[in-house]
Amino acid sequence: MSRITINHTLLLFLFFFTSFLFVPDSRAQVADPIPYKNAVISSADAYATQAGIETLQKGGNAIDAAIAVQFALAVTLPRAGNIGGGGFMMLRLANGEIKALDFREKAPSRATEDMFLDENGTYVPELSRTGGLASGVPGTVDGMISALERHGTLPLEVILEPAIRLAREGFQLTYSHAEGLNSNRDQFSKFEGSEKIFLRADGALWREGQILIQTDLAETLERIALRGRDGFYSGYTARLIIDEQQRQGGRMTLRDLRNYESVWRNPTRAEFKGHELFMMPPPSSGGVVMSQVLSMIDGINPDSTGVNSSQYIHLLSEAFRRAFADRNYFLGDPDFVSMPIDTLLSEGYNIDRFSDYDPESATPSSEISHGQISGFAESNETTHFSVVDADGNAVAITTTLNGSYGSHVAVDGAGFLMNNEMDDFSAKPGVPNMFGLIGAEANSVKPNKRMLSSMSPTIVTRDGQLKMVAGGSGGPTIITAVFQDIMNELLYGMNATEAISSPRFHHQWMPDQIVVERFSLPDDVQKNLNQKGHSIRVVSTLARTHIIVIDDDGNRTAAADPRGNGSVSGY
Ligand code: DON
Repeated sequence: MSRITINHTLLLFLFFFTSFLFVPDSRAQVADPIPYKNAVISSADAYATQAGIETLQKGGNAIDAAIAVQFALAVTLPRAGNIGGGGFMMLRLANGEIKALDFREKAPSRATEDMFLDENGTYVPELSRTGGLASGVPGTVDGMISALERHGTLPLEVILEPAIRLAREGFQLTYSHAEGLNSNRDQFSKFEGSEKIFLRADGALWREGQILIQTDLAETLERIALRGRDGFYSGYTARLIIDEQQRQGGRMTLRDLRNYESVWRNPTRAEFKGHELFMMPPPSSGGVVMSQVLSMIDGINPDSTGVNSSQYIHLLSEAFRRAFADRNYFLGDPDFVSMPIDTLLSEGYNIDRFSDYDPESATPSSEISHGQISGFAESNETTHFSVVDADGNAVAITTTLNGSYGSHVAVDGAGFLMNNEMDDFSAKPGVPNMFGLIGAEANSVKPNKRMLSSMSPTIVTRDGQLKMVAGGSGGPTIITAVFQDIMNELLYGMNATEAISSPRFHHQWMPDQIVVERFSLPDDVQKNLNQKGHSIRVVSTLARTHIIVIDDDGNRTAAADPRGNGSVSGY
């Protein structure tokens, strides 16, 4: 019965997508049903996926390929790919070792708690979203070099070849690239560095198929190829970044850039129905939230309720609601705040936290606060990609500028956009950020602190064997979407394409609503949820994910989200 519901819903969903939400794009490839024997890559852009494949064919491993994808995305997906942003990497080496790399941005050393408030103490959202103050110190370049030094095999200049070529010779814009650049003209025209790159010199609009050449970016990438970290964090590029900061009223200094370091962290680990999940720890909230939800629903046997039945959506929404309430209160940068992580990850705490779950009725979010733990006084503008190589090394990277095209400020002369990640801080307790997330003191702005994230690159194993590489974009919806992709695979046996195409829903405690994708819910499911007391908000799509699933024979099947223009390739 539940299977019929999935297929019905899936078909309806795909029909509507393919009929008018999809933009025709010769380079886009939703999913590839071919199981590859050796290596496979799923990313948001065909040029970037190809850059990774080229790197594998030069003899590189999954880490080398992932780094090549990251740098290529900085050229071919300017709204999210970046060198002026940051992110997280989950890595599983062929020998079974699992590692998490945090290359999240940091607040500049001259950041202050009130930097986004006016003289009356009122939050001014514009300040944390556009212009100089919006940017954290970028972590991407240090993160990639750190991963290469520890686990890569090829020289940086070889890995950077495809990105440099794409920047210098240009690449063809898709419809969605052209549309994205055109609809951001007003913001780009405020900043000279951005205007030069992203507005056409003749004043006309961009069109699909035109070539975007980024010469300054090619030169920045060449400096990185030649000098490594110093090609970005000191010398000419650093000077250009700080000059731009000063023109735009930012507070970043040369010393902030020189001092930036990515951090290797222990993954958050959870067991669920014979599988092990390796998830991103703080300053990402993804691992803690997913782990809490797993503990809350484990005793309840969600698979018996049928994927996307009203019972399933109710169960998960109630768990998401409680876990997000904890996230927003307790979580922040582990180097700055003391967090009750052991408790939050313990089965006992979560069973207790879910003890008031009523299968028949929604608990209003107003009645749910964070858990009582003694001692303790988050558009589609991020991008995720997954890579598995022939030896079984696996990499999941989620990377972002935060909002679409970040702060909209491109560093003049260096040719890349700076992030607006400062908006992920809680600018003022109780005031929502651009994703409607309400934060607390744990995520307040402090000098050199990392802002809390929802990015959730995740690796799943079974019996010590690689089973799934997952992750996505979409602010807080990343957590709930990645969670649902994993459940679709682990509980309902879907293949990669089915898992990723299945309709999604989202609940983040506040606002108190289940967000669902348009045309995704049969009428009776929606009515059942209303009857239980849920209000439903309909949006066009939720999150974009890129997953790889490995079967018991080692076949690698990958999918790129049909909600975006991603690309899968392998051999
Ligand atoms: O780190 C975070 O949670 C956000 N900066 C992610 C932003 C994002 O996913 C925007 N795109 N959809």
